[in-house]
Amino acid sequence: MIVEATPKAVIDAGRILREGGVVAFPTETVYGLGADVFQPRAVAAIFEIKQRPSFDPLIVHVTDMAMLERVAARVPATAVPLLERFWPGPLTLVLPKRAEVPELVTAGLSTVAVRMPAHPIARALIEAVGSPLAAPSANPFGRTSPTRAEHVDRMLGRRVALILDGGASERGIESTIVTLEPRPALLRSGAIAVEEIESLIGPLERAAGGTELRAPGQSATHYAPATRLRVVEPGNVPLVARRRAGVIALRQPFEGYAASRVLSPSGDLREAAANLFKTLHELDAMGLERIDAQPVAESGLGMAIMDRLRRAAC
Ligand code: TXA
Ligand code: MG
Repeated sequence: MIVEATPKAVIDAGRILREGGVVAFPTETVYGLGADVFQPRAVAAIFEIKQRPSFDPLIVHVTDMAMLERVAARVPATAVPLLERFWPGPLTLVLPKRAEVPELVTAGLSTVAVRMPAHPIARALIEAVGSPLAAPSANPFGRTSPTRAEHVDRMLGRRVALILDGGASERGIESTIVTLEPRPALLRSGAIAVEEIESLIGPLERAAGGTELRAPGQSATHYAPATRLRVVEPGNVPLVARRRAGVIALRQPFEGYAASRVLSPSGDLREAAANLFKTLHELDAMGLERIDAQPVAESGLGMAIMDRLRRAAC
């Protein structure tokens, strides 16, 4: 059920979480499916609801440093400038975990991924629970992440008792994930451009090809709409092949497609990232034969956008 995130609704949701339930809630990146990190049965329910084939590690959401200390055993020195600059916000740091964090949350790893969301409703909810929340994106395994309560409702509405509605997620793309030890490395590109991080702590290790290393649980197929998607320059697609397809373009619409969407008329990558998943959900609901997505240059947020498009295309 979708419920507007009034102060009372947030308190009620906090009670559900304290009692071991699962609640979907808004963050500035995408909607999350949350459970109290210290209740393994509640965390297990997240995997059940998402129908993940394996127990991938989850991101733990905190509101302050005291809460961080309840899940992280230590904060490496290189993490300090990053959390001072980007927290609260869409940066996830992989840190050594405390023994109290259930294995299920970290999939047996010795580290825990933590972020401090900036979204006021996410923060109020965590405060109401009084405990950090383990939360993956609130979509079934492999599907497009939700940036609105309605997206969660459409995909998981029958399996989640409560979806807190906080409107559209401002960033619209997941947090950037960075690990610090043994060397700083990019595990997932995301809402904070890698260049911004590197300007503070120097070069991040990347996978061959210059993209991110693969974080556990990041399969090649991901973010996929039910409709087949390919990354292609729409201008090169013959008109006859456009008729029953949809197109996602960066700046300008393309003629001849059954549906044409523009991510940012001014070519602003932040706006494009914010509109990406919403646009995928929209086109996916139209019963199109195919979606053509225009590639964008891979600098700044363009890296995260291309990462999501490539995975959605698998
Ligand atoms: O923006 C976000 O990060 C959203 C919102 C809800 O906060 N959450 C999110 O969670 O994207 P999820 O489950 O869709 O992605 C979490 C990913 C895992 O697939 C895994 O790749 C990585 O985080 N991860 C979690 N714990 C890790 C760890 N200990 N070491 C390395 N990677 C980890
Ligand atoms: Mg996800």
